[in-house]
Amino acid sequence: MIFAGWLPAEAKDCFNPGERWNDTSGKHINAHGGCVLFEGGTYYWFGEDRNGFVSNGISCYSSVDLYNWTRIGIVFEASQAKDATTGKCTLERPKVIYNDMTGKWVMYIHWENGDGYGEAKVCVAISDKVEGPYVVSDVFRPNGHDSRDQTIFKDTDGKAYHFGSTDMNTNMNVALLSDDYLTTENNPVTETKILNGLKYEAPAIVKRGDTYFGIFSGCTGWAPNPGHSATTLDILGYWEPLRNFAIDNGNMTTYRSQSTYILKVAGYDNAYIYMGDRWDSSDVGGKSEYVWLPLSLRSGAPTVKWYDSWNMDVFVNSDRFVRIAAPVDGAVVRILDKYSDRWMSSKGNGFFIDDDNDDTNVEFRLESTSNPYVWHFIENKSGKYLESMFGALILSEGNGKPTQDWRLELEEDGCYAIQCVNDNKVLSVSGDLQLASTPLFMIKKGAAESQHFGLYFDADKYDYECADMFSAGYRADNLDKMRKQADFEASAGIEETLGGYGVKIVCTNPEGITINSETDTQMTMSVIEVSSGRRIFSDNVVIVSGKTSVAFPGMLTVGVYIVSLDNDTSHIISKIIIY
Ligand code: DGJ
Repeated sequence: MIFAGWLPAEAKDCFNPGERWNDTSGKHINAHGGCVLFEGGTYYWFGEDRNGFVSNGISCYSSVDLYNWTRIGIVFEASQAKDATTGKCTLERPKVIYNDMTGKWVMYIHWENGDGYGEAKVCVAISDKVEGPYVVSDVFRPNGHDSRDQTIFKDTDGKAYHFGSTDMNTNMNVALLSDDYLTTENNPVTETKILNGLKYEAPAIVKRGDTYFGIFSGCTGWAPNPGHSATTLDILGYWEPLRNFAIDNGNMTTYRSQSTYILKVAGYDNAYIYMGDRWDSSDVGGKSEYVWLPLSLRSGAPTVKWYDSWNMDVFVNSDRFVRIAAPVDGAVVRILDKYSDRWMSSKGNGFFIDDDNDDTNVEFRLESTSNPYVWHFIENKSGKYLESMFGALILSEGNGKPTQDWRLELEEDGCYAIQCVNDNKVLSVSGDLQLASTPLFMIKKGAAESQHFGLYFDADKYDYECADMFSAGYRADNLDKMRKQADFEASAGIEETLGGYGVKIVCTNPEGITINSETDTQMTMSVIEVSSGRRIFSDNVVIVSGKTSVAFPGMLTVGVYIVSLDNDTSHIISKIIIY
């Protein structure tokens, strides 16, 4: 790292999440609920400057290395946005973007009148220079909606969107900003409510390729709670909820923090920092601290691991492992668990998930079989085959048995369910955990969430075709491949095990499904359209032992649907594709 500016004698060279963080003059940094921009080789950190609970305005600090911050001062004075009646205002969660058309820097702030949180408005302020001063432009409710925790996101096409917790924090409203970014567009087509009913706060948005990711908190005042995440290809469309992005011990409180921003680090293709606040409600301005941690998108889900202390070195290998476009005979791959961003690993006895570690992460050479969807995984050093024996994973000499045959069932995001052909069980992370050293084992498909794995290669050593995993085309191609796989397996008479509770959906078409059950039972069947989240159909179905055909009330149109079958003892979810 080259230091372009002046640094104090005791310059910091690492992040210590949650510990007291002083500026270069030795004073506690007072920039909460903030955001960081990179402009002209300098980072600018904007945040709430508070005295206890009282808002002084929005502060700004600058840095060249992200560790050492010099205070510029208050760049937007609270006095500019005082409520006429109360003579006060509360300013929270400032976010700044640049408008290419007007040449102005535009700041959106959650605005209250200083007496509680009942106004639920935004304050917009603008400046000709990134470092201010900013002057008030307007105070309003975006398209008339109550708006509390908020952020703004500038898209790659120059359009910008406001995200605000609305309907008393029940839903998240996404609204397109006007071309000058000074207001929302007063047009219902350009806004949407997402993640409805989930009561998310603290939104922060990032885009990679065509894919948007959002991270959020729950809604518990100043007290921390578990993190949440979601993804979409259509910013004003359906957002698919993912899991808690915090994956290590402490994740039930997001490491005692609440999200505020995702910072893309300059100089790397894929380095991101989670910015969170560790609030202290006894003195919001003076005692609240900052939790900054590396955020990874590599697995297709945002993940944030805990570090007591870390520096930019964690990003050095951020592009070393690349998802392979498709399994290829002879390719050497590592297996990445989607929700922990950790690798299938071994110390010679049993398998577990682990951080990036060349000593433990296992490399497998792929060997094709006569079935294009069934592969052998040969451990690259020993030449031994991965085998599933009564639910345990071992390495053994090649023996031609189905215990060493692995069906790769492609999923829309390019991950696989890795299924042993012998017993149909799938590779799973024990207890649905994400911690390093959690064992891997084989259980029924659908019985846990952590059954999604990506195949990656070491780009320092190999030159296979990469998956363009954040592109819209990648997902469309995967859907096409999933249909082909389903067709192939249906024509080969292979039944897919779904849920594994004695009920199987064995074929799909737009008119209905055939359910294969070992017993007579009654279940509630729901069909949900994935793109809209809309429940198309929900009814009780009587299932008799053997095969039962259940007709949908109308033909399903082309698309992807979730079929769920529930009764007191079973909950089975499956995806069907109509094409
Ligand atoms: C949670 C929000 O995320 C914070 O910004 C702040 O508004 C507190 N609530 C107030 O209780």
